[in-house]
Amino acid sequence: MKETFRLKTLHHQGENRCDLAFLSMAEAEKIRCYHATFPMYEPTPLVSLEDTARELGLGSIYVKDESRRFGLNAFKVLGGSYAIGHYLADKLGVPAESISSGMLTSPETKRLLGDITFITATDGNHGRGVAWTATQVGMRSVVYMPKGSAKERLNNIIAAGADASITEVNYDDTVRLARAHAEKNGWVLVQDTSWEGYEEIPRRIMQGYCTMGLEALEQMPEKPTHVFLQAGVGSMAGAVAGLLASAYGEERPKVIIVEPNKADCIFRTAEADDGTLRCVGGDMDTIMAGLACGEPCSLAWDILRYCADHFVSCPDYVAAKGMRILGNPAGKDQRIISGESGASAFGCAAEIMTNPQLAWMRDALELNEHVRVLFFSTEGDTDKANYRAIVWDGRYSAE
Ligand SMILES: Cc1ncc(COP(=O)(O)O)c(C=O)c1O
Repeated sequence: MKETFRLKTLHHQGENRCDLAFLSMAEAEKIRCYHATFPMYEPTPLVSLEDTARELGLGSIYVKDESRRFGLNAFKVLGGSYAIGHYLADKLGVPAESISSGMLTSPETKRLLGDITFITATDGNHGRGVAWTATQVGMRSVVYMPKGSAKERLNNIIAAGADASITEVNYDDTVRLARAHAEKNGWVLVQDTSWEGYEEIPRRIMQGYCTMGLEALEQMPEKPTHVFLQAGVGSMAGAVAGLLASAYGEERPKVIIVEPNKADCIFRTAEADDGTLRCVGGDMDTIMAGLACGEPCSLAWDILRYCADHFVSCPDYVAAKGMRILGNPAGKDQRIISGESGASAFGCAAEIMTNPQLAWMRDALELNEHVRVLFFSTEGDTDKANYRAIVWDGRYSAE
């Protein structure tokens, strides 16, 4: 299939038919307080790229740099750590508001709870966050990765304390494998996507991502006009889009969802817009490993349908372009190390602004020299060999 740009626009804003209570600003505040109890917590930087914005024909560009999150090089730990914390609070019979890292890591908590094994499937970042959190609270973790996963990402998960391995199947089948092992062994599945009958933990994971969204809204000098969000299963995008809708109501910024052509399940679901989720199968061999998911998170779609405006499916080379620009921005702008999934939405916007053949998209998204655009660089160089091949050697340049 030839890679190309596709756009679907939905007009459901104002219909207000989704439940935003779990993504309210008040909930986000509580969750941020929980994350702030971890000694390594610090808000990640929001970087203003003024010269690059001018170069690309945008008013301003802000990039939230999640490579600084908890020393784990990606935002994902926010979800797993909150879901695990909440699960343990329930087990202890205490309100979620009262939990803290100190309480979860105490020998008394371990004595009360005994041994618990957490299991998950991941393309890297989520599994590292689950493994890290399980180790912090003195529990065991088992992590499965889809075939083709980068060795470095596997090694980082093992170093975080998990019993981790790469399977012979794609991401969605790896999720089914983890689920089967959880059921067979009585382990706790901490999956960052939901399906019928499995919603509690994915909901907590989405809530965990609100810490990132809340920080960004507080750091922004003024309200963004556009927010670009990359999607795998859509949990991160759903969480941030829901938070934006909670914060600004009808006056919220335009939300643009970005996915690779090879794994554009949210785009296809938006295109159909009939209430049924659409899936992508096969290997999904996109360079955006974190976005190589073929089945949307049902909870996230319920939010995105009403809280996102545009859905873009794009070629792989835009992620590589985004990594190169963020690593070498214009003028005096600060450089950001951003990985394939982290740079995808920024790279997509940069291509839309500079490729004359995409003027129609620029117009449709109303991107011009007056707009203020917020991006989330959701990971750093989580696959260093590929980062170098792309940034130094120009791998995956546009044909
Ligand atoms: C770096 C990065 N960005 C974005 C995403 C997308 O998140 P979600 O699967 O919730 O859509 C992922 C998912 O693993 C990721 O690792």
